[in-house]
Amino acid sequence: MTLLVGAMGVKKALEVGTFTGYSALCIALGLAEDGEFIALDIDEEWPSFGRRYWAEAGVGDKVIFRPGPAAQSLNALIDEGHQGRVSTSSSSTPTSEISSPTRRIR
Ligand SMILES: C[S@@+](CC[C@H](N)C(=O)[O-])C[C@H]1O[C@@H](n2cnc3c(N)ncnc32)[C@H](O)[C@@H]1O
Repeated sequence: MTLLVGAMGVKKALEVGTFTGYSALCIALGLAEDGEFIALDIDEEWPSFGRRYWAEAGVGDKVIFRPGPAAQSLNALIDEGHQGRVSTSSSSTPTSEISSPTRRIR
């Protein structure tokens, strides 16, 4: 995943469901130097395990963890002006909705 993210020159990535942060680490490691990774999870405790490893791997400053239900967080991101082309992986949450700032996620 790190290789793929690097090859695509990804600058911004969003993950719905971070759990302990392993996939977050893999993606963050492949991001551009000025890249940003937004990690969403309804649970605050599990992603906190990842924090230490994100920092040890030197990507701690690229990872922004936002706790709470994803639909709420995605709508907040839209309100904050985030937008972009989104590729979804295995998540069942319609993250592609974020590509249009006028659409709301229910
Ligand atoms: C299969 S795990 C994700 C695994 C993670 N991507 C990894 O590679 O380690 C699913 C995660 O989605 C989170 N989750 C489930 N429903 C959610 C929701 N409505 N909003 C945000 N996170 C949610 C769970 O707390 C859990 O940590």
